[in-house]
Amino acid sequence: MENLRCAVIGLGMGMGHLRGYLENPRAEVVGLVDLDEERLARGLKDAPGAKGYTDFEKMLRECKPQVVSVALPNFLHEPVTIACLEAGADVLCEKPMSSSLASALRMEQAVEKTGKRIFMNLSQRFKKENQAARELMESGAFGEVYHAYTEWTRRDWIPGFGGWFGQKELSGGGPMLDIGIHKIDMALWLMGRPKPVTVSGITHHQRGMPLAKKEGVKFDVEDYATGFVRFENGASLIFEASWAGYQQTYSQESFKLIGTRGGLEIAEGKQGLDYIYNHEVNGVPLASRLVCDKMEGKSSTESLVDCILDDKPFRANMEDGIRMQVILEALYESANRGSEVNIAKDFPDAFALL
Ligand SMILES: NC(=O)c1ccc[n+]([C@@H]2O[C@H](COP(=O)([O-])OP(=O)(O)OC[C@H]3O[C@@H](n4cnc5c(N)ncnc54)[C@H](O)[C@@H]3O)[C@@H](O)[C@H]2O)c1
Repeated sequence: MENLRCAVIGLGMGMGHLRGYLENPRAEVVGLVDLDEERLARGLKDAPGAKGYTDFEKMLRECKPQVVSVALPNFLHEPVTIACLEAGADVLCEKPMSSSLASALRMEQAVEKTGKRIFMNLSQRFKKENQAARELMESGAFGEVYHAYTEWTRRDWIPGFGGWFGQKELSGGGPMLDIGIHKIDMALWLMGRPKPVTVSGITHHQRGMPLAKKEGVKFDVEDYATGFVRFENGASLIFEASWAGYQQTYSQESFKLIGTRGGLEIAEGKQGLDYIYNHEVNGVPLASRLVCDKMEGKSSTESLVDCILDDKPFRANMEDGIRMQVILEALYESANRGSEVNIAKDFPDAFALL
């Protein structure tokens, strides 16, 4: 069977995509695109067989890739993804799917029109520890999961300060959408995808906005967010996500899942080391460590190549991207209103997508 012709557009996070393709011997990297010549040169050094471009449309015409990673600023996901689909390629789209739900739905329409597919780089699902946690959940080890708590908070790390990340029009939102998305998605994934019914989101911008004013740059998204999600099955989720907030650690990640038979804890953000799985055997509580080192740990891009060539399901699809876009949009709406949003009642069309 022929190798899969792959391309990457955007070589910031896209360098990670490139590495994943290069790790899979069944992938052939044919084209790389970035407006930034230095980044492009760095990519081409790693993939000397690829052709480099600053114009993604020219790359699509000349390289005819079968799958394209779109790792661009969020507002560009829609136009570039649609162009790739129309050129006959499947797309691995970076998270979030787009900067708004309306935009993500236009991307879905393009999928329907072209018959091509969008896969999502919800990369936390590809960490082997998280995969092990998912397998435990599927085996029934946690019983019925009724609560999740998750945090990804940074003390002082606003990405590309003054650039697109901090501008609502270009990004769609701050840390809730940027890093909160990973943890909210992971919670839903490990809870067995319950349907969110109501959400409460609260956003703060006490650090980013004064700093932006002082430095004369634009910043109109939150730098700290917290929220609460209530699910149709009675389960709940609490999360925090921040780029800037006074705390001891530079970046802190934690995750907790509570079910009727067991629970999962990721302590101190040392992912891969401190996954504790608490459970009951014959009514006796036990705490075990997840052993993950023997598991397959393929990155999203490396695994996508196999999924496409072998016609197997991929772990994160367009529907997951749209679902996250609905939840995030409802959370921002709640933050704007200063009250809870009932997705089912206030946004029935969006609720149907969950
Ligand atoms: N899955 C993850 O863990 C993860 C991590 C980081 C970023 N991301 C996502 O990846 C995407 C990119 O983020 P980033 O941190 O790499 O941003 P970035 O700004 O560092 O990189 C974007 C790149 O796109 C290039 N670019 C912009 N417009 C272009 C155009 N029209 N044609 C070609 N190239 C163009 C820029 O020159 C830049 O090199 C975002 O959607 C972000 O949310 C995901």
